[in-house]
Formats: sequence, structure tokens, C-alpha cells
Amino acid sequence: MARQLKAGTSKTLGLIVPDASNPFFAEVARGSEIEAQEADYSLLMGNSGQDVERESKYFYLFQEQRISGVLVSPIEDVREEIESMRSQGTQTVLVDRKADPSICCSVSVDDIAGGRMALQHLIDQGYRNIIFVAGPLEIQQVADRLSGAREAIRQSRGGAQLRVITTKNLDVLDGREVGSQIVAMPPIERPDAVFAANDLLAVGVLQAFVFNASIKVPEEIGLVGYDDIAFAESAIVPLTSIKQPARLLGKTGVEMLIEEIEDPSGHRHRQITFQPALVVRESTTGPSAR
Ligand code: RIB
Repeated sequence: MARQLKAGTSKTLGLIVPDASNPFFAEVARGSEIEAQEADYSLLMGNSGQDVERESKYFYLFQEQRISGVLVSPIEDVREEIESMRSQGTQTVLVDRKADPSICCSVSVDDIAGGRMALQHLIDQGYRNIIFVAGPLEIQQVADRLSGAREAIRQSRGGAQLRVITTKNLDVLDGREVGSQIVAMPPIERPDAVFAANDLLAVGVLQAFVFNASIKVPEEIGLVGYDDIAFAESAIVPLTSIKQPARLLGKTGVEMLIEEIEDPSGHRHRQITFQPALVVRESTTGPSAR
């Protein structure tokens, strides 16, 4: 790889994700790595930690190392970084975020459909007073899930209501904190269901309900997560979740990146959007769910 880098003919790809500790991005990385290896490329991964400065440093590092292409799940708009890298011969594909077709390729999941699917399932199960545990609404994936959830509420024609609680991070600890807030509510103010923006938040909410307050899930409060990571199925109450094809996102992103690297002049940018899927488990279908 060092010889390739020196010769400027690096068969090395870069991957930048916002949270390497999130199993969803670990699966995206795995899918990317398998596809890169099959095409005889190496893959280097950087974790931006949801920090724009760190993300920019990885863009600079990969450009400086003459990496052939970068797959990035961006924090914010990275149009300038993409154009700068392309001017130096490094291609970019967005993963888990839809790109403007004039800028680059992208592979993503329809998170509006995913949010709508989660709420429609809860409404179909008889839940009516629902809280969306959001994480930061600045994250486009989270904002899209909320948009879809609100569409389902509108279509329920007043049959259901949605409150939103935002958190700083999309992790178990912040989920546990919100779960504790819900436990502290007078029972009359508690929701009858929670939709969490990802499975890590949902697992934290579940821990607060089961360990701190013995709130029965799903009998007293139903719970839906998002991503369908392995912890969803193995949670103390198996979690209903919205499945994202994480490995396929990584695989497809690398395929598109290598296509452009190997034929930049003949390449036309594409936006591939996969559909999420509802995976129903005990956390919304317990013995006496509504
Ligand atoms: O980055 C936050 C979330 O957005 C992840 O859990 C995954 O769902 C991604 O799409």
C-alpha cells in the first residue's frame, strides 16, 4: 500500500463515519470492507465522532495520502470538500445520505418512509399517545424519521398524538436518561408508546423502564427502534425495529466509488435509495398489547 501511495496509484479507499461505536456503522464498514477486498482495494476508516472539524481532518488526511476514493456518512454539507478532493483526483460517494446528483453518487435509505412505517405500526397496534425520542434533529436521518412519523400522525386524523424529546447523542446513555424522564412523569402524562430514532436510544429507554421502574413493555408502553442492529433482537424485551440494509449500503457505496475511480470520464453520478423494513418483535406485540 505504501508503494502504491508513493506512486500515486493507491488502490486504497477511505471511509468516514460519524459514530464508529454504533453497530449500524460497523455493519456499513463491514460491507464496504468486503466489497473493497473483492476488488483488490484496501480500506481505511475514520470516525468523525459527529465533529465537523474531525471530519474535515479526515478529508484532508485522505487527500494528502492520495487515497483513490472516499465513502462518507457526512455530518453536514460536504460539497466543498468533495469538489476539492475531486480536483486532486480523489472521488467521493455519500453513504446513508442522499446527494445532489450534480455533486456525487450516493446510497441511502428512505428514512421518511421508515419513520412513517414505525408510527403506522404503533397506531395499528392500538397505541395513541406516542413520544419520539429523537437525538439531535440537526442530523438529517433523524429529521427525516420525524417527518415520516408526523405524516402517519396526520393520516390517523386525530386518532393519535406525537410528542418529541431531543437528546444530545444517539446512544444508550441518552436513551436511558429519557427513559428515566418518562418514568418520573405522573402515570397520566406518560406515553403509551415510544419511537426511538435508533436502536441504541431504544435499548437505553428499555433499560430505564425495566431496571428502574418495572414498567412493562409492551403492555404499559410499546417501544420501536431503528436500524435493527443485533442488540435489537437480543434485548431483554426483543425490540421491534425499522431495518436498514447496513452492509448493502457499504457494499453498494464501494461499488459506485470504484466505478468512478476506474472510469471517471465515462461515469454518471447515481443516487440509490433503499427501502427500510418493519421487523416486528415482542416490544410492540406482547401478550396484552392493545
Ligand atoms: O447516525 C445516527 C443514525 O443514523 C444511525 O443510528 C443510523 O440509523 C443512521 O442512519
